[in-house]
Amino acid sequence: MASLLLNPIFSPISLFHTHSASLHFSKPFSISLSQSHSIKCSLSHRPDYFPNRIPDPSYIRIFDTTLRDGEQSPGATMTSKEKLDIARQLARLGVDIIEAGFPAASHDDLDAVKMIAKEVGNYISEDGHIPVICGLARCNKSDIDAAWEAVRFAKRPRIHTFIATSEIHLTHKLRKSREEVVDIVREMVAYARSLGCDDVDFSPEDAGRSDKEFLYLVLEEAIKAGATTLNIPDTVGFTLPSEFGQLIADIKSNTHGIENVIISTHCQNDLGLATANTLDGALAGARQLEVTINGIGERAGNASLEEVVMAIKCRGKELMGGLYTRINTKHIVMASKMVAEYSGLQVQPHKAIVGANAFAHESGIHQDGMLKFKGTYEIISPEDIGLNRSNESGIVLGKLSGRHALRSRLLELGYELDGKELDDVFWRFKAIAEKKKHLSDLDLEALISDEIFQPQVIWSLGDLQVTCGTLGLSTSTVKLIGVDGVEHIACSVGTGPVDAAYKAIDSIVKVPVTLLEYSMNSVTEGIDAIASTRVVIRGDNSHTSMHALTGETVHRTFSGTGAGMDIVVSSVRAYVSALNKMLGFKHTPVKKTSSETSRVSA
Ligand code: KIV
Repeated sequence: MASLLLNPIFSPISLFHTHSASLHFSKPFSISLSQSHSIKCSLSHRPDYFPNRIPDPSYIRIFDTTLRDGEQSPGATMTSKEKLDIARQLARLGVDIIEAGFPAASHDDLDAVKMIAKEVGNYISEDGHIPVICGLARCNKSDIDAAWEAVRFAKRPRIHTFIATSEIHLTHKLRKSREEVVDIVREMVAYARSLGCDDVDFSPEDAGRSDKEFLYLVLEEAIKAGATTLNIPDTVGFTLPSEFGQLIADIKSNTHGIENVIISTHCQNDLGLATANTLDGALAGARQLEVTINGIGERAGNASLEEVVMAIKCRGKELMGGLYTRINTKHIVMASKMVAEYSGLQVQPHKAIVGANAFAHESGIHQDGMLKFKGTYEIISPEDIGLNRSNESGIVLGKLSGRHALRSRLLELGYELDGKELDDVFWRFKAIAEKKKHLSDLDLEALISDEIFQPQVIWSLGDLQVTCGTLGLSTSTVKLIGVDGVEHIACSVGTGPVDAAYKAIDSIVKVPVTLLEYSMNSVTEGIDAIASTRVVIRGDNSHTSMHALTGETVHRTFSGTGAGMDIVVSSVRAYVSALNKMLGFKHTPVKKTSSETSRVSA
């Protein structure tokens, strides 16, 4: 192994492309490459979990906050079932800590976190890993109670509590003195511990703009009160990488007791530096990194899981002193697609790692290089993140293709479907293949979006008929089938066929809705292309939650997607999907455990 690494032909790039066991080392070792470089390779198994320490100093814990900070993105409302699906995928990825939500935001949020704590927080993977389930709380008793109420069912529950420490937040938001903030931190961290939670994460919000001496003091008090992780947020994404790294280094050297806890990073992306800042934080000693799938989150988002994890995987041994994570990167693509679909936040084509163009080579020179040796233009192999865009199996899907061929191609695209899910996609695929000679990967992705990543069905589209044109008003007749199987038919006129159809649906569903966004794309070229529609709607005032950082009431919005070769059908499917998401939002029952039932009846 050592000789491979020292041979220039086996550069990190070519090693990466071999997908061989050379990326996993069974014993720690260190090799001198030159006088100034050395690679330290650590045990690549996951160290045992202790809230306040990690037995292997090179191990990085990945804390995913897609379901909390990610869901704070405008329009990213997810139902409990969607959150549960994502949490399961995060567990499959091997994320160490899942921040499942902000339970004090609303009953729905509390229930969703509780459901995840019960189901995912008790899931033991093949390698024995159990994810920690975390709930966010402001530094007050009722938030902390709500967080504990939600996470305590997990095998490894954690409370994450925060209060701002920057002068700007103290003066304008909290209107509190430094002394008052210190008292609150001391009391609330101790309170969280007193509930029986032995894993308490404390964040000084806006640490990136806080006075350092005050920060050390606050962090020391949090440690004394029982915090096991100290998370350092660059809440407004203001710092530069060197500055953020220095902040972590300064905290490490100036905070009494810091050696007894884990330092964590939480970097927002306002200047597009979240990933860089996170990596500098890790270089300076942080061993927990807060990230989100696709980098979604408040405003410009957070450091993205896939970027941080792949950077550590690609360069950790060589340039980061042997840092490593235990993320199973082959599940990244599926996680990315799931989050994009459920949150309604599509990934930009040029997004690092998971964007549609991340592995596309358009120019002749690049294509030539790729054909000769993939390492010329690819530093990551698509297979490493669960993607195979090259269609190496050579499967061309058409109307004669069977279930097995469809499943194989979907697997190559990063979708693992079986059972009913595969059946549903297969029958839609067959119907479209009757009309369209070859189905491309993009067609398949549109179908998956329309069939699989859909909310619980409350209303489904039976039939649709429209007339439109220049001779009169557009009219539509819609047949919807309710959850009880009863058919409902309505007709309406409108300014166009989509408007007429949406009005007919409204007269059946009878809930007040405002259409906020409507967009349609042709998935591929040609007259027989599939149309993909996305809508965002808002209901009445009953769909609200509380914003974790500002405390303001947020009106939830709900996204829906639809696909079809007929543009009006595609539009209707998207609208029905958004309505289902909104109507189903409160309808996911939370299973009670026996301890909960006895507690309630006691
Ligand atoms: O951005 C922020 O400061 C946060 C904290 C609550 C960690 O989200």
